[in-house]
Amino acid sequence: MDFAPITDRIADELSRIVGPKNLIFRDAERLEPYSHDETAEREYAAMPEAVVKPGSTAEVSRIMALASRERIPVTPRGAGSGLSGGCVPQFGGVVLSLERMNRILELDLDNLVVVAQPGVVTNTINEALKKDGLMFAGYPMSLETCFLGGNVAENAGGGKAVKYGVTSRYVVGLEVVLPSGEVLRLGGKLRKDVTGYDLVRLLVGSEGTLAVVTEVTLTLLPVPKRRAVLLASFPDVPSAIGAVPRIVREARVVPTSVEYMDRASVLASCAYLNERIPYERAGAMLLIEVDGESEEEVFRAYARIGEICEARGADPVYVADNRTTMERIWNVRRNIAEAFKVRSPRQSLEDVVVPIAAIPAFMEGLAAIQAEYGAEIPCYGHAGDGNLHATVVKPAAWGEEEWHGKLAELLGKLYRLTHELGGRISGEHGIGNKRKRYIGIDLDPATLALMRRVKAAFDPAGILNPGKIFPDGA
Ligand code: LAC
Ligand code: ZN
Repeated sequence: MDFAPITDRIADELSRIVGPKNLIFRDAERLEPYSHDETAEREYAAMPEAVVKPGSTAEVSRIMALASRERIPVTPRGAGSGLSGGCVPQFGGVVLSLERMNRILELDLDNLVVVAQPGVVTNTINEALKKDGLMFAGYPMSLETCFLGGNVAENAGGGKAVKYGVTSRYVVGLEVVLPSGEVLRLGGKLRKDVTGYDLVRLLVGSEGTLAVVTEVTLTLLPVPKRRAVLLASFPDVPSAIGAVPRIVREARVVPTSVEYMDRASVLASCAYLNERIPYERAGAMLLIEVDGESEEEVFRAYARIGEICEARGADPVYVADNRTTMERIWNVRRNIAEAFKVRSPRQSLEDVVVPIAAIPAFMEGLAAIQAEYGAEIPCYGHAGDGNLHATVVKPAAWGEEEWHGKLAELLGKLYRLTHELGGRISGEHGIGNKRKRYIGIDLDPATLALMRRVKAAFDPAGILNPGKIFPDGA
């Protein structure tokens, strides 16, 4: 890549745009936190030359125009809670942190939408909506830290997608800044819009490679009146996983969540949180949430799902229907990734997705890979979406070099298994720099070529978040 370095002159110009206190330059200690996301392996990290923290769309626009003119790479960044290296400045240059653009701009109850800036912490949206009985239905596991802009960039999935879908279902309007500095307003407070190509949909999940999101319009839903969380404890992995397609097919209700946790995941998270949940010694567990308008409706739903689980060998299910207990159980689920990271930084957290009916076959294939390599691969995730977080942990006996070689080979096998089952290498974390060399397993050359032409149409100079998604890193 042929990029220009950030000289003192360019740094001065950036400083004039955002103000000196919103520029970090020639200060390795303060630049370092912007060199990585939550991906455990530090080989995906890269240092920025400068960090800028714009306070407005106009400032973002001026930064992009400057970067285009000078051929400086720009990598947009939310909270840095991503898991594919998406916000890592692969070629140095500028990290454009949206942390200061953190306001909810408008709560429009008549249109049931909220308009917010990208630096808003996801959970604060629902805090702000609570008094009106409304919610944004996105539920990424990092909701207490991640930013809305990151949810949009990655099209975040999370724990309630079985019923509520992923981020893109709710994004109806965007304000974005193109690499040239032009500002576009796309979509709006609309439930329907087929006026031209659906660029909103294209931009959601584009991993910050096409434009910088500066404003998001989200549709809202009423908060369901009743919820309950079921914990179903199974003797082993096949019986727990085998119950998932059954629940989806036979429950006659759409559960909010069907989350899977193997024994290692539950134990690690409970130990990390110093928490106890019922049946934590089970072989594998399902966490199932149901919601509805009345107690009877919720009761009927969980009774039916409980029967299906018990018919597949589960112990009598544990039902949590008060807020504190539900939150304690979800907290265990939400902290698995962090618990594993604390236990072993030498690991690869995966994010494959398969059609729901193929989950049992996927788990069989995963067990075979585990046996072949003698590596521990604990697994948990959003089973009801077919989206599983197999986590390859470095065996103590493997040296660094062996780990790198074998991991690449193992991941290749895991991804091919997924692809053969009709799946994809990433369901919600994205390709970033971490998975780009494997994207050809899922996407044929013609599809990739079309995606490159889309990228070139938005970013002809290739300055926006370079080194992501495409295998040669362009
Ligand atoms: C989770 C994150 C890792 O599901 O996606 O916990
Ligand atoms: Zn997840």
